[in-house]
Amino acid sequence: MPNSVQLNPTYPVITKSDELYARATGLIPAYTQTLAKGPGQYIRGVAPKYLQRGKGSHVWDVDGNEFVDFNMAIGPLSLGYAYPAVDNAIRAQLEEGITFSMMHPLEVEVAELIREVVPNAEMVRYSKTGCDATSAAVRLARAYTGRSKVLCCGYHGWHDWYVAVTDRNRGIPQAVQDLSFTFNYNDIQSVVDSVDDDVACVILEPMVFEEPKDNFLQRLRDVCTRHGIVLIFDEMWTGFRLALGGAQQHFGVNADLMCYSNAVANGMPISILAGRREIMQLCEKEIFFFTTFGGEALSLAATKATILELREKRVPDALARQGRKLKDGYKDIARQLAMTYTSCGGMDCRTIVTFDASAGNPLEMKSLVQQEMIRRGVLWGGYHNMSYSHTDEDIIHTLTAYREVLPILKRAVEDKNILSYLRGEPVEPVFRRSGKRAG
Ligand SMILES: Cc1ncc(COP(=O)(O)O)c(C=O)c1O
Repeated sequence: MPNSVQLNPTYPVITKSDELYARATGLIPAYTQTLAKGPGQYIRGVAPKYLQRGKGSHVWDVDGNEFVDFNMAIGPLSLGYAYPAVDNAIRAQLEEGITFSMMHPLEVEVAELIREVVPNAEMVRYSKTGCDATSAAVRLARAYTGRSKVLCCGYHGWHDWYVAVTDRNRGIPQAVQDLSFTFNYNDIQSVVDSVDDDVACVILEPMVFEEPKDNFLQRLRDVCTRHGIVLIFDEMWTGFRLALGGAQQHFGVNADLMCYSNAVANGMPISILAGRREIMQLCEKEIFFFTTFGGEALSLAATKATILELREKRVPDALARQGRKLKDGYKDIARQLAMTYTSCGGMDCRTIVTFDASAGNPLEMKSLVQQEMIRRGVLWGGYHNMSYSHTDEDIIHTLTAYREVLPILKRAVEDKNILSYLRGEPVEPVFRRSGKRAG
């Protein structure tokens, strides 16, 4: 019998996952197409590796084990797996065609809808991936300002201009590396210190897990305006989730260009670049940003259906409401157990569980919690990426599991031997920014 969403007596059987993994060995380098979905992010020997299907907030792996999923495809499933309103729109479009020889009416309809719900979206373009949109934004900023340097602060995709600031920068020409620099979130001085007359843009996620402090976003806006720098909000996580109009609406600060992808099409591959007309219109003749599948109609149909559903059901409010129950619930349990070294923070719609290095190796602590949550039917990556399909029952089950699991972590920490509690290799760190400063 496969495990299900309950306090299972055993760890799940993962034979078929391991068989697939063995077939991929030596065939698919790094195994995964998305780092955060890869085997390095899960405790080996315990966690499944391949998922077969999903419905609502639940998934089934290839061995038939069922889990509540709090990763939600690493963000895209704002509504949930196999969500009828979106899937029906995709099916209806499929009857008519996927990709066409000319433009499709949905390109216009969806752009009008985005202009309606996103502040400051005077012009709109589509592409397929998040880094398509961020890279086009950077190119636009360079074209608009006639400058070269980029200041960034989070993760923005795999392209040269961004990966230049990480520790995986092999294969990127030095000339490109020399143009990208980092600053610290909530540290306006680190931006100011990096500004010179060759800075084309500042790109950042308006919020990741830390709230903006001391009016940081507005001050950043002011610095950019003062120096003629293009401000780009990478709204992959905040867009259509923190509010329908994203971080611009939520924090009341406008960027010049905004990039969206994650939550806007409930899992279909689309990204959106939007922003001020004066800059966006350089896409007409000056810069080149075109791709074969940019106007692919299934994703546009999914986008339209998703945005309408997000708006009608006030989904951003619902995500925050359900997410807050988990965040507060987790913190309460940790407090009752006097576990000061673990907490839960972030936007209510997307929270992260943190472990303080003062108590032990955070990756080992994360691995132990993951191992025990997986046994209890929760596919747990350290985050609560909320979807509209997460029910009260899911939340109650998850908090019940935490109530069993956190005492195990506490015991392991007190024994000062977390590794001995692990049934497999711990999770690996994700790759890092190198902290390359200008000046
Ligand atoms: C904030 C942010 N920007 C950009 C990207 C890149 O998007 P994609 O992986 O679709 O290219 C991601 C993906 O994780 C992201 O989280």
